[in-house]
Amino acid sequence: MRMTDERSSVRVTAMCGIVGYVGGRPALSIVLDGLRRLEYRGYDSAGVAVVEDGTVLTQKKAGKLANLEKALAEAADPGIAAGPTGIGHTRWATHGGPTDRNAHPHVSQDGNVAVIHNGIIENFSRLRAELEATGVEFASDTDTECAAHLLAGEVRALRESGLADGPELLAEGMRRTVRRLEGAFTLLAIDVRVPDAVVAARRNSPLVVGRGNGENFLASDVSAFIEYTRDAIELGQDQVVLITPAGIEITGFDGSPQEGKEFHIDWDASAAEKGGYDYFMLKEIAEQPQAIADTLLGRLSDRGEIVLDEVRLTDQDLRDVDKIFIIACGTSYNAGMVAKYAIEHWVRLPCEVELASEFRYRDPILDRSTLVIVISQSGETMDTLMALRHAKEQKARVLAICNTNGSTIPRESDAVLYTHGGPEIAVASTKAFLTQLVACYLIGLHLAQVRGVMYADEVAAVVEKLQSTPDSLRGLLDSMEDVRALGRDLKTASTVLFIGRHVGYPVALEGALKLKELAYMHAEGFAAGELKHGPIALIDQGTPVVCVVPSPAGRGVMRDKVVSNIQEVRARGARTIVIAEEGDDDVAAFADHLIRVPATPTLLAPLMTTVPLQILACEIASARGHDVDQPRNLAKSVTVE
Ligand code: AGP
Repeated sequence: MRMTDERSSVRVTAMCGIVGYVGGRPALSIVLDGLRRLEYRGYDSAGVAVVEDGTVLTQKKAGKLANLEKALAEAADPGIAAGPTGIGHTRWATHGGPTDRNAHPHVSQDGNVAVIHNGIIENFSRLRAELEATGVEFASDTDTECAAHLLAGEVRALRESGLADGPELLAEGMRRTVRRLEGAFTLLAIDVRVPDAVVAARRNSPLVVGRGNGENFLASDVSAFIEYTRDAIELGQDQVVLITPAGIEITGFDGSPQEGKEFHIDWDASAAEKGGYDYFMLKEIAEQPQAIADTLLGRLSDRGEIVLDEVRLTDQDLRDVDKIFIIACGTSYNAGMVAKYAIEHWVRLPCEVELASEFRYRDPILDRSTLVIVISQSGETMDTLMALRHAKEQKARVLAICNTNGSTIPRESDAVLYTHGGPEIAVASTKAFLTQLVACYLIGLHLAQVRGVMYADEVAAVVEKLQSTPDSLRGLLDSMEDVRALGRDLKTASTVLFIGRHVGYPVALEGALKLKELAYMHAEGFAAGELKHGPIALIDQGTPVVCVVPSPAGRGVMRDKVVSNIQEVRARGARTIVIAEEGDDDVAAFADHLIRVPATPTLLAPLMTTVPLQILACEIASARGHDVDQPRNLAKSVTVE
């Protein structure tokens, strides 16, 4: 984490909603409709661009869609409501403030090309420097604006080479542009000299085409155009698509003709917002692999070093740290509990984890050498905010881990590392938890790297495991049918106990919290070693006990002790639900239900072992007929103390 205050190095990216239209009707009303359909995703700014009468007309505003609609009504050129080709964007900022200037669309310097973007252009800083060296003046801090200037330059070069103007020229310009980009992106673009086309490209970020009759659509998900057409095409990796009123043309980045995956949408609009899942929670569980990949993106050098430029703490600040506090609530607190084990093991600094609502009342000993890490998905949790303020009064340095750009907690912190989980709609936190773990791992590894207590190859070895997590998670998510069946079977249980040791203990706490808040069922997580000091009296015949077994590849003694704990509860009649890694075969003898997870290094195991517990809780709640996304008595963000 190096001190850096050049605005240009603050990469402004977004997890957002995207819409494009070309056809015989005014584009604006259709694009705005689409953005409204995407409103559930949450966002902090919105904008549109339309090609009309030889001009690209744009309007964009920070805040909710209503702000944009007000600006369109009051200030926009009336032509913007007439043009038949347009794009629209709602931004979920992850870097950089949600401001008018950072809102999309972004327009090239010559005013001819407008671009909207979802994702992260990793080589943004180098591209921006190259463009500025040619005299391009940037109007925003976003990585997206690079794409607008690059695309304008490519289409200009193609025109100058004599290539006939038209949709194909624009498509070739896009292909040449995206071949220069690294990272994850969905890009949509319009060009004033090609008034009847929208071109798009996708890599590691969603994009679907809606096939209409004499009109065609593009969107980040089908809910944006479902009321106009149910015939859709899902685009694959590294594809460019050109839509005109008459047609849809798909190629690879190399120009080779390709196909998309045609499908008919048989969901209703509400289901479409959930991506076809019954609940946002299930959609967000499924998004976890991508959320982890996005949180890692741009933060790992090709030598396996951690690169956290956006965190405004100098290396010397970090070397001066002699104690760490992690402060949070609920699921975020459980993430901090996992982080404690990793940070103490890697960094060799004392690390305490404290509930935000307890922190300031214990009169903690803090000073300038204390690093306080506050974790919050919403960035608005009042308990955590008050704890942060107390820490700052005590002169501690405060680093926020947050999923909501521009929210209060990161604004009041000295530094912030944003998770890139995208909007989390369900009250029960899932992808935010896993991305919080990843952010904590990154901070721990970076501290160890800066303080010289881990060698570069040791850091790189962990980084390599982290990078393989999304694929491991995708495989795990495809094998959860037995867990769902178990959830339906536990529908009538009156209590479920969870036990774990080391990082498995916070996983037990998180599994119990999920079950409490979703199924309204008594559930409790324990340190496995604590059972014999009282809680084991709770075990009755058939009491379900979820047991999180550490990897045998870690500290064998830890695993063996948990296996002993499983035998203790079984001896008293418990129904054991054992989570263990593939290959750990002798636990099967003690498991009434055995849930396998991919082998993972000890400290990273919660990225896997938590997921079956998320699904178990969701299934039990669903079997009980509860509102999974909006459980009773709860709010997504607790803004009262
Ligand atoms: C977790 O599923 C709950 N929604 C809740 O415990 C939540 O984690 C807690 O309120 C903290 O919220 P925050 O991360 O937005 O600060």
